[in-house]
Parts: sequence; C-alpha cells; structure tokens
Amino acid sequence: MERLQKVIANYGYTSRRKAEELILKGKVRVNGSIVRELGIKVEPSDTIEVEGTVLENTEKVYFLLNKPRGVITSVSDDKNRKTVVDLIHTNKRIYPVGRLDYDTTGALLLTNDGELANKLMHPKNNIDKVYVAKVKGLIGKKELTKLANGVYLDGIKTSKGKARILKYDKKTDTSIVELTIHEGKNHQVKRMFEAIGYSVLKLKRESISFLSIKNLKSGEYIELKPKDVKRLYNEVK
Ligand code: URA
Repeated sequence: MERLQKVIANYGYTSRRKAEELILKGKVRVNGSIVRELGIKVEPSDTIEVEGTVLENTEKVYFLLNKPRGVITSVSDDKNRKTVVDLIHTNKRIYPVGRLDYDTTGALLLTNDGELANKLMHPKNNIDKVYVAKVKGLIGKKELTKLANGVYLDGIKTSKGKARILKYDKKTDTSIVELTIHEGKNHQVKRMFEAIGYSVLKLKRESISFLSIKNLKSGEYIELKPKDVKRLYNEVK
C-alpha cells in the first residue's frame, strides 16, 4: 500500500507535488471514484485515472536473485527485517514470484509482471525447480524413490519429481540431495524430507526452469533479457 500521490509520481505521470494539486482539484479517480484527500493509500491492483488517463505500468522488469540466508521473501516486513525487494535497485514496484524461506538461499524471480508471475507459480505449468538439500543421515535408494514418486503432505500426495544423491559425508553423517519438483507448497522440500524421516539442515534452490544462479554470488542478481522472458512465456503457454 502506498500513498496515491507517490504512486502517481512513480508512474512517471508528474511530480508528487503536482499530483497532490491534481488530487485536490478532483482530477484523480481510484477505481472510478473521485478522490480529494491526500492521505489515502492504494494497492497495486487499484485502477488510477488522472485527468481521464488510466495509469498503466508500462515497462515490465524481471530479475533473478541469488537470495541470501536471513532475508525475508516479501515486499515489506512489519518487523523491519530486510526483504528480497530491498536487495534490488529499481524504481518499479516489483514483488517475488513464490517464496523461499528465511533460511533458504538461491534462485528467486522478482518482477512487476503479474501475468507471468501467476503462470510460473501454477503447478499445472510444470516449471522445474531444482533444490539442493543437506540432510542429516544417509539417504538410500529407497528414500530417493519415495521422494521422486511423491510423499503425502496433509493427506495429499506431492506430484512426481526427480531425486538423486550428490554426496554422502561419513564424518558428519550428512547427505547432499538434489530434488527436482514443480509444485511450490509451503515449506514443501523440508516437509517432503520430514515425511520420510529426515531433517533438512540447509536448503538452496539451484534453478527455476532454465534460470540458474550458478554464476551469481549470494545477494547478486541479474536483469533478464527479453529473449529469456520470451522463453519463460513459452514454457508456461
Ligand atoms: N521448500 C522449502 O521447504 N523451503 C523453501 O524455501 C523452498 C522450498
């Protein structure tokens, strides 16, 4: 939620001060109704009309971030913790596509393109997400098969994915497991391991579809090129 005059200015229509004048003159409508108070706050989904022109977010932007640990996947936080949006330098009102836990690192997309965001998050679109989990104990073939075939979370079976062991460290008795899934239920990976009796010590998302964070350091991000955006749209068609 942001102040109406700020939102008008952010769209690039005019300065914030001029926007205030226009509001006082009754030249601004929100969702069809004239608004004359300066304090009101609007949401990204509200339709704002200034002097008869509907403001539209013109340029769409897309970022791939390697999310660090200890950052919240949200636009704002009531406890004033750092959010993923704080890490990206843009004057556009972007938001994260899906969610990574506070202690999970890795690939996260942020955009102001609601259409693509919704499509990417819909499980029917089968977007592969590759996770690498460090778990306590030795994961055997049987467990990998269970993970790949789906486990029950709250009575609903997760859809089929892929699972393979990358490494087992005898000294610490920990396994590194790569898990590829296309759903995005709350804490899904941690809960899938829990369901087969293992606890996740560390979790990283390596990639979303063809977008990998291999070349990005923690906290770094890239802006996607138009050809990448086109490819993403093709994947969710
Ligand atoms: N699954 C989890 O458990 N946590 C994440 O952050 C992402 C997927």
